[in-house]
Amino acid sequence: KLAHEFHEPVLLAIIGGTGLYSLAALKPIAKLIISTPWGEPSSPITIARTSSGFPIAFLARHGPHHDLLPSDVPYRANIAALKGLGVKVILAFSAVGSLREHIKPRDFVVPNQIIDRTKGIRSSTFFCKGFVAHAGFGEPFDPKLNKLIGDHCREILQGDGVKLHTKETEGKDVILVCMEGPAFSTRAESQLYRSWGGDVINMSCIPESKLAREAEIAYQMICMSTDYDSWNESEEPVTVEQVVGNLKANTDNAHRVAEKLIDLLEPKIKSGEIGGDLDGSMKFSVSTKK
Ligand code: ADE
Repeated sequence: KLAHEFHEPVLLAIIGGTGLYSLAALKPIAKLIISTPWGEPSSPITIARTSSGFPIAFLARHGPHHDLLPSDVPYRANIAALKGLGVKVILAFSAVGSLREHIKPRDFVVPNQIIDRTKGIRSSTFFCKGFVAHAGFGEPFDPKLNKLIGDHCREILQGDGVKLHTKETEGKDVILVCMEGPAFSTRAESQLYRSWGGDVINMSCIPESKLAREAEIAYQMICMSTDYDSWNESEEPVTVEQVVGNLKANTDNAHRVAEKLIDLLEPKIKSGEIGGDLDGSMKFSVSTKK
């Protein structure tokens, strides 16, 4: 039976992107319709429990029927709703285009840096005139989550040569470019992002990751490559058909990664080893005097 209320804190949330609309292995026990000062989240938040009873929140970023454009996702309501439930850790899944030959469609990528190419039309802060703060964002993802994924998810990926790319495997920062969309990049833009060191590209990491930082929530995006974007003159530029085709073929891997991480994170979040590093950090970011 799905309830509209849930009274325990929920410490871990999964945000599903294109192609990940539920947590297949976990049985939902509640569906929460939440309203925040920034409006309603993209979808009702589903709560499921692990076999030991640990509750997990799941939110579909683009809505349950994928009817929200990346620029129209209510990012502030999504993060505020999760914060209100008590969430300390977010794993956010996203389809990405690859800007590198060796990052093949269906590979997984765990970025540790972001280049923001959104156009300033998305509301990207909880702060406002009269209450000014500047969150630190030099390291935009949670390093512990980043390492945990790199250390434990490689061997569970299945399929022809499907790889997991991390800072360790690449020997450099793994850079996610976040563009406005909804149209894909031109070839010249795609080549420019490569020249900047970009490795993968999507349309949803900003402002989601920034808002999570302001909310003191540990956040890591887990990217699934679906196409070669538009840079490669010897390939057809990206189409939705390619993106959706590769996502569907790779859903099992996404579920496997989510399930593995839930298992690993439950004890680490309960013990405070992961999820508490940002506690209280925003009090040093406020510049308004009163
Ligand atoms: N999401 C999946 N593929 C993409 C691409 N090539 N550009 C931007 N977002 C994407």
